[in-house]
Amino acid sequence: MLQRLTLPLLALVAALAAPPALAQRSLSIAPYALPEDGAVAVAVRKGLPDEGVFAELDARAGGALRRAANAAGFTGDRGVVLNLPGAGSFEQVVLVGIGEDATSPRLLEDIGGLVGQAGVLSAAPRIALLWPEAGAEHLLLGADLGQYTFRQYRNVDPAAPVLGRGELVVLTRDPDAARRAWQARWLPLANAVRFSRDLITEPANTIYPESFVERTRKAFEGVPKVRIEVLDEKQMRELGMNSMLAVGQGSQRPPRLLLVIYEGGPRGQAPLVFAGKGITFDSGGISLKPGEDMWRMKYDMSGAAVVTGSVLSLARRGAPVNAVAVAALAENMPDGAASRPGDVVRTMSGKTYEIVSTDAEGRMVLVDAIHYANERFKPRLIVDVATLTGAISTALGDEYAGLFTRDDALASRMLAVGAESGEELWRLPLHPSYLRDLASPIADLRNGGGRRAGAGVGAAFIGAWVPEDVAWAHLDIAGMAWRDDLPLPTVPLGASAFGVRLLDRLAETPAQ
Ligand code: BES
Ligand code: MN
Ligand code: ZN
Repeated sequence: MLQRLTLPLLALVAALAAPPALAQRSLSIAPYALPEDGAVAVAVRKGLPDEGVFAELDARAGGALRRAANAAGFTGDRGVVLNLPGAGSFEQVVLVGIGEDATSPRLLEDIGGLVGQAGVLSAAPRIALLWPEAGAEHLLLGADLGQYTFRQYRNVDPAAPVLGRGELVVLTRDPDAARRAWQARWLPLANAVRFSRDLITEPANTIYPESFVERTRKAFEGVPKVRIEVLDEKQMRELGMNSMLAVGQGSQRPPRLLLVIYEGGPRGQAPLVFAGKGITFDSGGISLKPGEDMWRMKYDMSGAAVVTGSVLSLARRGAPVNAVAVAALAENMPDGAASRPGDVVRTMSGKTYEIVSTDAEGRMVLVDAIHYANERFKPRLIVDVATLTGAISTALGDEYAGLFTRDDALASRMLAVGAESGEELWRLPLHPSYLRDLASPIADLRNGGGRRAGAGVGAAFIGAWVPEDVAWAHLDIAGMAWRDDLPLPTVPLGASAFGVRLLDRLAETPAQ
């Protein structure tokens, strides 16, 4: 079983009277040499083998590391961290268990993530992570993702100790190769995940449709081959996007449809379309949600942040693809002007539905966004990403996002890409009977079904707007987009931006 020792440490920090100032470490790569002192982190295989970097380091520390490991019952199981302040001549030694698994990018990202998290809680000005072998760029990616914190609104006590500031440097034998891979491929991805996490973590009084657009414009400033287009309510009305409008009409914050068009691939090649649910706050609308945990519904724009972040990564690293992020942005609020249960909406495609719950708003914004994008871009693939249903968490917990598609080949490709990226998917059915649950007495459909297969019914509703011959997949990330209880090595508590790594890699794999 994977044990994670970071949580008690976080709890300890939170309990201190004066909160320490936490910052982020700068990440770098340098030539390998076994350090004599300072703060060091090292990966340890199961059974503490007496050859290799751990053994050499232990010899330098006069056997202190092995003695401490034995005393703590640390045997190198994957994911277990032993943090040793003051071991031998070293200021701090972080042992990261890696078990018996073969070295893979995912393993390296997990090691990096655990060291990054240990670094957040350390006052050492410099931590050296020892990794003579290839793949150091994945350690940096993991460290960057793992050390993510959001402290924009927290005042710090200037007298409190400063933790998590300084550097984290990976020492490796071929630093030039690792540095090139990091700069060209993985740093842009890490920055894109950070962009998405920041957007998601920001509360709904700072992030609403228009400010989401402004933040996006800023992030893409100066990035070549990118065009940003924004549809406002007037343009939506002209296009007949009544479904987008129906969700936003109870809010003081008007809806927007944001398009980020990246043309890095061959001219005229059909693009990938990534469409994201962007509900900047989901109160439920007139079908008001219960108050408990409603604050978290600021994260209901995760899909939009994730698709925008994915295209940011692709564009920043100059990936040779054409890709469009479509962010369906609206705030779902109750108000005299808000949509009511029972209202009938004519969507842009002409298809109508009856609202049974104004809380099933994600599918409402997505069907207009997807219809528009499909008509306009004739994409070779559409992937929509949405915190669509509570039912997906009931089904899959917080290990997998739900994957829904009619296309078996696409499903297996996406499952594989998910496993490689560390953002895993589990396929669930799109049974034709789900559409029967969506029958309405007065319109083509209704926006919610009965009490069964809630996540599949939501997917089926969206699918009713996607022509059968279009390659389409729906990702329900409601269970994955916000991390509670247990952090993962590369996903601290809070906004995960689940899907950025996956979509970034999906665009990389051979065309479909
Ligand atoms: N944003 C929610 C989904 C959600 C609910 C995410 C709880 C995380 C926790 C979505 O808009 C929603 O309210 N979905 C409804 C659908 C229902 C009304 C058909 C749900 O899941 O209850
Ligand atoms: Mn809702
Ligand atoms: Zn919602």
